[in-house]
Amino acid sequence: MGEYVEIFEVGPRDGLQNEKRAIPVAEKIALVDCLSGAGFRRIEVASFVSPKWVPQMADSGAVLAGIRRAPGVRYAALTPNMKGLEAALAARADEVAIFGAASEGFSRANINASIAESLERFAPVAQAARAAGLPVRGYVSCVTDCPYDGPVAPAQVARVAAALRDMGCYEISLGDTIGQGRPETIDAMLAAVLDELPAGQLAGHYHDTAGRALENIEVSLARGLRVFDAAVGGLGGCPYAPGAAGNVATEAVQARLTALGYQTGLDAAVLDRAAAMARAMRGQQ
Ligand code: HMG
Ligand code: MG
Repeated sequence: MGEYVEIFEVGPRDGLQNEKRAIPVAEKIALVDCLSGAGFRRIEVASFVSPKWVPQMADSGAVLAGIRRAPGVRYAALTPNMKGLEAALAARADEVAIFGAASEGFSRANINASIAESLERFAPVAQAARAAGLPVRGYVSCVTDCPYDGPVAPAQVARVAAALRDMGCYEISLGDTIGQGRPETIDAMLAAVLDELPAGQLAGHYHDTAGRALENIEVSLARGLRVFDAAVGGLGGCPYAPGAAGNVATEAVQARLTALGYQTGLDAAVLDRAAAMARAMRGQQ
């Protein structure tokens, strides 16, 4: 048996948030229900952000209310502030995530705050979530490149990741938000972050804009990371990151990991069904 590597499915959140068509809540629920049978331990299904900023996620409460919760699966939600956390608690999310950035330009564009302001805002959210018994994940966006500020210094990523860890985040997901990371820049970034946190507390979250996400995952595996975020059908993009294409496709990550001798515990046939559903939701075949 190969070593286990976890794929954290983010398609219902990161995959769909950028979609222009208002997707009916029933379609979102059907996608999550399909994914629940694939063998994931964690699926990000909701985002309690301002509906003015990301209209597609406005029905997150209804999604969490409507899904069939499979035993052993944690259903996760983004919560940028206390208002978001209150909504996530009311909707019975199993875990929440706060999301910061390593670059000032993206932080301002995405959450209307400087990095320092965002960290101040996140601290009480993480504290209240943990007091309510919810695990808190932390994201750092723009870990190699920022659509506004250009190349990002690895030390800056390490600093923000450590700040989120210090707030009690159990895992920090490192986002190549616009998919411009290359194996060399991802490796240099990881070297800096690993000075602050062990590989077991890190996840790779790589968008596939330039088609290098699988290579970047391999570099990260060599650095000891064993959790990767992905979206079925390769859906996704961030509305506040011009040029951001989809997350790396779950089925492609699963195939690559399997070829490398790892096991993911995922059912490829169910993934294919979910990927077809996801593509149909975007009007692709
Ligand atoms: P703001 O405008 O500074 O917030 O936005 P505010 O506190 O001044 O509130 C403005 C309005 O929003 C008020 O309503 C609030 O009630 C409402 P009004 O009085 O005008 O009617 N509001 C909310 N409504 C619902 N839920 C909430 C909430 N908070 C405020 N939680 C804010 C600040 C953070 C809210 C805003 O910038 C925002 O929602 N940003 C989210 C952007 C986003 O979701 N981006 C995509 C996710 S991040 C991502 O995709 C990257 C990732 O995948 C990793 C990677 O790839 O790198 C995670
Ligand atoms: Mg993302």
